[in-house]
Amino acid sequence: MLRSLLLALIFMIPGMFLLNFSVLGQETSGESPALPENVNIIVAFSCVPCHTSKGGLLSRAKLNFTDWTEYSLSKQKEKAQKMYSELKKGAMPPKTARENRPEIIPTADQVAIIKKWAEALGTLSDKP
Ligand code: HEC
Repeated sequence: MLRSLLLALIFMIPGMFLLNFSVLGQETSGESPALPENVNIIVAFSCVPCHTSKGGLLSRAKLNFTDWTEYSLSKQKEKAQKMYSELKKGAMPPKTARENRPEIIPTADQVAIIKKWAEALGTLSDKP
């Protein structure tokens, strides 16, 4: 009994890591566009894990990159705009996270990438 439990654990742990990577890969195809690679890199470094299904209840309810491709295009547009406005204000990542891990604060160049992406996304039209 104990032995099979142990065995199950040994197989579960690498499985959990695999799941983590697939979350960042954004490969799962939903209806709406996935994050482009240049945006995904920033998000994966600065906004994950708070804004994934493994994140805090509040942060993931408001913005969940695990479900990004499941968002409708209009929801993606709205969230992308909010991402840029939070970054412009310096409101994300939250203050405590910025203090504890200053390296995750996006650089001006990275904020510019988010801005450009949010604007480009805004010009896409919804499927008829
Ligand atoms: C340490 C955890 C943490 C990190 C890291 C973090 N956030 Fe957040 N985020 C939160 C929490 C908690 C909320 C909800 C509370 C609030 O709105 O202040 C939130 C809310 C938001 C919202 C508001 C969503 C809405 O619809 O109102 C946006 C946009 C956002 N975050 C973007 C980002 C971006 C972009 C990054 C990375 C650059 C990031 N966050 C990094 C915790 C985090």
